[in-house]
Amino acid sequence: MGNLPYRSYVVFVGGFAAAALWTLDWPAVFTLSQADLFGLCILTILGLMSESLALTIVVGQNVSNSSITFILILASALIFGPSITVLFTATTGAVAEFGIRRKPPSKALFNVAQYIVATASAGIAFNAAGGSAGVGAATGPFVHFFVRQIFPFLTYAAVLFSVNLAAVSLWIALRQGLAFGPILTRWAGPAGTNVLYDLLVSPIAVAVAILYEELYVGGLLLSVLPLLFIRHSYFTNLRLQEANRDLLYMMVKAIETRDPYTSGHSRRVALMARRMGDVMGLPGKTVESIETAALLHDIGKIDVEYVEIIRKPSQLSDAERRVIQSHSSRGADLIRSLSSFRSEVVSAVRHHHERYDGSGYPEGLRGKQIPLGARIIMVCDAVDAMMSDRPYRLALSLAQIQEELYAGKGAQFDPDVVSGLLASDLLDRHLEEVAPEKVGSGVAVGVGL
Ligand SMILES: [Fe+2]
Repeated sequence: MGNLPYRSYVVFVGGFAAAALWTLDWPAVFTLSQADLFGLCILTILGLMSESLALTIVVGQNVSNSSITFILILASALIFGPSITVLFTATTGAVAEFGIRRKPPSKALFNVAQYIVATASAGIAFNAAGGSAGVGAATGPFVHFFVRQIFPFLTYAAVLFSVNLAAVSLWIALRQGLAFGPILTRWAGPAGTNVLYDLLVSPIAVAVAILYEELYVGGLLLSVLPLLFIRHSYFTNLRLQEANRDLLYMMVKAIETRDPYTSGHSRRVALMARRMGDVMGLPGKTVESIETAALLHDIGKIDVEYVEIIRKPSQLSDAERRVIQSHSSRGADLIRSLSSFRSEVVSAVRHHHERYDGSGYPEGLRGKQIPLGARIIMVCDAVDAMMSDRPYRLALSLAQIQEELYAGKGAQFDPDVVSGLLASDLLDRHLEEVAPEKVGSGVAVGVGL
């Protein structure tokens, strides 16, 4: 299966892995003391536990696994040396690929070969940097400790991560006939959070190795089991949060499919709100919260109670208006109960219909009492409504939108947000970019907001 470059690459990795096993420092393996052999068995069991608790990461159509096994690989290199670590990785990898993840044999074999290539390359670099097994040399002046232990260790870690990332990216690129560069960047993106995380927590491996030297197997259990537990709870929680967020985003889509005139509305408002935050020079976290709130601002309308009212072509009665106005607080309650979004997100959703002059809802807040996110969403929401066709009017032109914004300064809109928007070319760019998405019904019978 696969094209010639792909097949050649698989053969090359397989050949490299076989050569690495062939040229392994076997005397070091056979002269391993019984005590260390037992320690290695415990480390392998811990490695398998880690693999079975691994988090699955999906990047496009490819799937990867994230676990703390790399800490055990690094600790193994420090405790037993790079040769035995190649065997440790090959064994753990083979059981994980064939037994735990039950990958197809060809894929599993390639992955094991790739693990061997990465650890063998890291071992070559470790030896070249003057590294040696055991952390016993960790005595004397710090300079000696650094040169003998830390520098080879860092070299080992850097080569391990780089070869692993490059090997996986090249495999995907060749298999799917894509360019290597973008795949590497893309893979390093979502998995990149992990690469960075992996590099930052690598020094934990030194602690694991020292604890092994001091407390033997007890040291391994004492250091690795809590790590496994923390990692597992963290990711379980993360998955739950992600599942809840996906659910919310699906709900946004569901609401918008009810009404073709609002199709894509929340996504466009979110895009514009993020750009508005950037234009105003807000901190990254704040912009992120505003963008999320903008995407979810009308989530409260998921309730079936709103369906008929939203579709109603005629004027709303006072009672119906009151019902529709409850969607902002309903939405805030919903996202508060479903996920742990930052409080800024919840309050921006709750107050996105507050008007600057205090005549909005649900609380009639005025001026800067209204959360900044809500003030930005109010403007972006209105702009998106103005730039879209409605059954009763066509979309407004750029000049008309600018005019409406100007007229609403201090009444409906925060003057600072409007001034920031009008002083930038954001509105111009945004309109140009999202214009092709507009509904364009051509059934306009008048112009109005
Ligand atoms: Fe709304």
